[in-house]
Amino acid sequence: MFSPTRLLIFAGLAVSLTEGTIVAPAFKGVPATIADAADFNGSTTDASAIAATAQQVDQKTTVPIDAPPNQPVADTTVTAIDGNLVNATVSSTGRRGLAEASSHLSRRNNSNYELVFWGTGTGPNDRDASIEGTAYLTYTVVSNATYAIDDCLAKCDSVDGCVFANLFYEYNNELLDFVFGEKSNLKCALYADVHNATEKTNFGGQQSYPSPGPLTYIQQSSGWAAKSLVDPPTPPGYQKRSSDTYSVNQGFAFLDRYDVDACAQICNQRGADPVGGACEYFNIWRAVVNGAPTTYTCSMYWIPADESTAVNFGQGSLVVTESRGYSRKNVVVDGGFEGYTCGSAGEGIPFCFTQGYTNWQGTSPAGGNFDASIFNYQPYAHTGSAVGLLGSAFGTDQLNGTLAPAQPLATQAGQSYTLQFFHSSFYAGQQAEAPAAVRVVWNGQTITTLNVGFAQWTPHQLTVTAQGNDKLQFVGGSSPAYVFIDDVALYQS
Ligand SMILES: *[C@@H]1O[C@H](CO)[C@@H](O)[C@H](O)[C@H]1NC(C)=O
Ligand SMILES: *[C@@H]1O[C@H](CO)[C@@H](O)[C@H](O)[C@H]1NC(C)=O
Ligand SMILES: *[C@@H]1O[C@H](CO)[C@@H](O)[C@H](O)[C@H]1NC(C)=O
Ligand SMILES: *[C@@H]1O[C@H](CO)[C@@H](O)[C@H](O)[C@H]1NC(C)=O
Ligand SMILES: *[C@@H]1O[C@H](CO)[C@@H](O)[C@H](O)[C@H]1NC(C)=O
Ligand SMILES: *[C@@H]1O[C@H](CO)[C@@H](O)[C@H](O)[C@H]1NC(C)=O
Repeated sequence: MFSPTRLLIFAGLAVSLTEGTIVAPAFKGVPATIADAADFNGSTTDASAIAATAQQVDQKTTVPIDAPPNQPVADTTVTAIDGNLVNATVSSTGRRGLAEASSHLSRRNNSNYELVFWGTGTGPNDRDASIEGTAYLTYTVVSNATYAIDDCLAKCDSVDGCVFANLFYEYNNELLDFVFGEKSNLKCALYADVHNATEKTNFGGQQSYPSPGPLTYIQQSSGWAAKSLVDPPTPPGYQKRSSDTYSVNQGFAFLDRYDVDACAQICNQRGADPVGGACEYFNIWRAVVNGAPTTYTCSMYWIPADESTAVNFGQGSLVVTESRGYSRKNVVVDGGFEGYTCGSAGEGIPFCFTQGYTNWQGTSPAGGNFDASIFNYQPYAHTGSAVGLLGSAFGTDQLNGTLAPAQPLATQAGQSYTLQFFHSSFYAGQQAEAPAAVRVVWNGQTITTLNVGFAQWTPHQLTVTAQGNDKLQFVGGSSPAYVFIDDVALYQS
C-alpha cells in the first residue's frame, strides 16, 4: 500500500495544481492515482496458512453410534475460513434443486462399483474396523440375513454425491439390536469421497448396552467405490477454467466435502475487497495427508494470473488432488477497457485516447467535447493500462459525459446481477474533485448517484435485475471534477 507520507505529498501536489492550472487528461496530467494503488503485494495464495490449518481441522467421521439410519444428508459445512476454525453450514438455497450430484466425484448413473478393500473377521475373536474418513453423508442398515452388498450399493446410488460405501457389522449396539425397526446390525455407511483401508480406524469399543454390558466391536468391514467418476456440473454464472493458477488470493475456506456449488456460493457472497473488489474466481481441491483425504479447500481470488505465478502447493505431507478452477462469467465485454490499444509503440509509456471503440462508447451532450472517453495510459488505470474517463478530456467544458458498453448486455431476463466497478476521482486534486459525482443508469433509470468527492480507486457494488439486452451507462465527471472508471463487471448473483 501507500504510506501516509506519500499520500500527503500527492495531496499537496494536487492542491497546488488546482490553484494553478489543471493539466487536462488529454495532455497527460498527473496520474489518476498513485502509480501502485492496486498493490497486491503480500496477497498471493497463502499456501503455508492453508497447510497449517489443514493440520488442525478434523473432518473425519464414522457413523455415530447412536444415530438412527437413513437420516437426510446434512448441508455442506464450512470448517475454516481464512485460517480460523469455524462451524457453519452453507445455505442450500438454490442448490438442492440441482438435478445432479455436487460431489467432485460425481458418478455416472450406473451401479458400477469396485471393491477397494475386503473385510476380515468372522470368528468369535476376530476384529475389524470401520472407516473414519472425510465427507460422511449418512448410513442405512441392510438385511443381515446375507452380506447384502447390492442393497448397500443401491442405497449409495440413491444418495446425492455418494461415491463410496463402507459395509460392516457392528455388534453390541443396543439400538440396532432392539430399538431401530430394521433389526439388523449390518451398517452401510455412505461417503462423498473414496476411502482406503488405511482409514479403517474405528474399532468400536463403545458402551451401547447398559454397563457392564459388552462393548461394541466391528467385523467384516468392506469398502466399495464408484468405478466411473465424472466432473461435477459447473455452477450457474461460472465457467470452468483449464488453468487454475490465479495469483491474487482473497482468502480460503475449508469444506467438509468437495462441493463446487457451496464454494461458488461463498465466492458470490464474499463482499468487495477495497483493493481487489469481488471474488472473481475460485479453485477447489482436495488435500490428501499421508494418503488420506483430509479436507476440501475453496480458494478465492480477484485477479487472473499467468502461468508464471503458479503457486507451489504440496507442503510436506499435504498433497493437492482433484484441483478444479471456475471463474465468474462477466457479462460486460471488456470491462477493463483493455481492448483499446495504442497501435505502434512509440517512446515510453503508450498514450492514446478515443471517444469510442468496439466495446465501449463515450458520448457528450450537445455542445460538449470529449466528455466521456477511453484512455490507454497505464498511470491512469486501476489495472492493466486502459481506463474510462468521465469529464471533458481537454478540459474545455463542464458537461457530464456518458460512458456505456457499445452493445446491450447479454443478460437473462429476471435474473439478479451484481454490478461492480472501480472509480477514482483524484486527478484534479482535493478542491477541484470535491463535487465529483457519477450516476449509474440501468435501462434509462438512475439507480444510484454516487457523490464520490476526492477519492482514490474505490470499488462499488450494486444489485440490478435484468430485463434482457440491458443498457448500462455511467454519467458524470463535470470537468475538472474528473471521474475515472475501470474494471466494470456484471456477475450473476
Ligand atoms: C512486498 O512486501 C514485503 C513486506 O511487506 C516487502 O519486503 C517487499 O519488498 C515487497 N515487494 C514488492 C515487490 O513491493
Ligand atoms: C457444529 O455445529 C453443530 C450444530 O450447532 C453441532 O451439532 C456440531 O457438534 C458442531 N461441530 C463442531 C465440530 O463443533
Ligand atoms: C438412473 O438409471 C435408472 C435405471 O436405469 C433410472 O431409473 C433413473 O431415472 C436414472 N437416473 C437419472 C438421474 O438419470
Ligand atoms: C442381525 O442383526 C440383529 C439385530 O442387530 C441381531 O440380533 C442378529 O443377531 C443379527 N444376525 C446375525 C446373523 O448377525
Ligand atoms: C491404499 O492403501 C495402501 C496401503 O494400505 C496404499 O499402498 C495405497 O497406495 C493406498 N491407495 C490409495 C489410492 O491411496
Ligand atoms: C452532472 O451530473 C450531476 C449528477 O447528476 C448533476 O448534479 C450535475 O448538475 C451535472 N452537471 C452538469 C454540468 O450537467
